[in-house]
Amino acid sequence: MPLRVPTILLPLHASPSPAMARSYSHSYRGLAVAVAVAAFLAVGQASGLGFDIHHRYSPVVQRWAEERGHAGLRWPADAVVEGSPAYYSALSRHDHAHFARRGLAQGDDLLTFADGNVTVRLDGSLHYAEVAVGTPNTTFLVALDTGSDLFWVPCDCKQCSPITNITAQGGPDLRPYSPAQSSTSKTVTCDNGLCERPNACATRNSSCPYAVRYVSANTSSSGVLVEDVLYLTRERGAVAGAAVKAPIVFGCGQVQTGAFLEGAAMDGLMGLGMDKVSVPSILASSGLVKSDSFSMCFSRDGVGRINFGDTGSRDQAETPFIVRSTHPTYNISVTSMDVGSNSLPVGFSAVVDSGTSFTYLNDPAYTALTTSFNSQVNERRANFSTDGSGPFPFEYCYHLR
Ligand SMILES: *[C@@H]1O[C@H](CO)[C@@H](O)[C@H](O)[C@H]1NC(C)=O
Ligand SMILES: *[C@@H]1O[C@H](CO)[C@@H](O)[C@H](O)[C@H]1NC(C)=O
Ligand SMILES: *[C@@H]1O[C@H](CO)[C@@H](O)[C@H](O)[C@H]1NC(C)=O
Ligand SMILES: *[C@@H]1O[C@H](CO)[C@@H](O)[C@H](O)[C@H]1NC(C)=O
Ligand SMILES: *[C@@H]1O[C@H](CO)[C@@H](O)[C@H](O)[C@H]1NC(C)=O
Repeated sequence: MPLRVPTILLPLHASPSPAMARSYSHSYRGLAVAVAVAAFLAVGQASGLGFDIHHRYSPVVQRWAEERGHAGLRWPADAVVEGSPAYYSALSRHDHAHFARRGLAQGDDLLTFADGNVTVRLDGSLHYAEVAVGTPNTTFLVALDTGSDLFWVPCDCKQCSPITNITAQGGPDLRPYSPAQSSTSKTVTCDNGLCERPNACATRNSSCPYAVRYVSANTSSSGVLVEDVLYLTRERGAVAGAAVKAPIVFGCGQVQTGAFLEGAAMDGLMGLGMDKVSVPSILASSGLVKSDSFSMCFSRDGVGRINFGDTGSRDQAETPFIVRSTHPTYNISVTSMDVGSNSLPVGFSAVVDSGTSFTYLNDPAYTALTTSFNSQVNERRANFSTDGSGPFPFEYCYHLR
């Protein structure tokens, strides 16, 4: 029976080997409550507008990376067996890179990353969607990021990821996007309400420049905002399957720096945050979907679905977001944890992040949960001191009968 988790992703499908993670650093602790990345969240009933999403190590993303001659997205060879120690270890390394980008880690973690010793360093997000924009259309495999807001693609490149210039042989059409080549593109001028840098404008009717800096060292995307059509599919009712060309404001990313030149979000990034410039917000404010909401679902084979306008089911549980007006994020408040027969009162906030593999907890919650779990497990503890690329990150592993 399909499980359903709209908007908020929680790991629902218990992993075959309940691994408890301990991060390399001291500022937060990782906990593999379940295989969140491959969480078994089947779509109950598709609705609204949507498209398929692909896990970073899915065949679709692999093929796409190979067509473009880019090896950076490849899954470490020893980690292909889901559930193996190497698999969890690789996900953990991914998370460390990801946290560095988000700035959830403390300053000393950022330094740790800049100095290396992490094989998968700043390697981008976990989930991608193939999206098409413009007329004629250009296709991009964009990273889906609930931690930021702006959607941008490499465009009129002055400094883009090298793969942007590689032409595929027998692959999809990989023409670079340029607003000048698209008959449906429109200039977004500085007096547009979505223009956040009016001070950087020469005149009120010049093109609105944008610049987004990400937390990892020297990583940014900049260019100008443009409006063009984004191709979506209607999924519900009599018009199911109908194509929808949604006018969207996004960044024509002319200059990328840092991690974006080294394998992260090489083909653009779709921010799914709460700001008014994000794609979910634009779809809602333009009335193309009735509700300012979306759902993301993932399946074990790495292919999932994102649906804009999904309001979920009537019987689902809900929890409010803690919304700060200055920088709203999908921040929730956790008040208690149940571990088997134990109920642990806790009190902390946590950001719900589709791009992170594991659930990470600080102390005292981490120790409360792990010791409670360990005390209720009868299996023998397993001890992996290393996974070949550094200390093994998980504290609690068990031999399963
Ligand atoms: C990573 O750090 C460990 C411990 O400090 C060291 O033994 C190892 O050689 C380092 N690996 C790399 C690739 O720098
Ligand atoms: C993009 O254009 C091609 C033809 O150039 C067409 O076959 C394809 O269906 C279009 N994609 C979308 C999403 O409309
Ligand atoms: C910008 O506005 C000025 C004054 O209103 C006008 O003269 C000029 O043609 C406009 N430029 C563009 C590119 O629309
Ligand atoms: C960031 O850029 C500055 C100036 O270009 C450079 O000195 C510094 O080494 C860069 N840092 C990293 C981590 O790449
Ligand atoms: C989440 O909310 C808590 C409580 O208001 C706040 O302390 C924390 O900084 C917020 N986190 C983020 C990332 O916004």
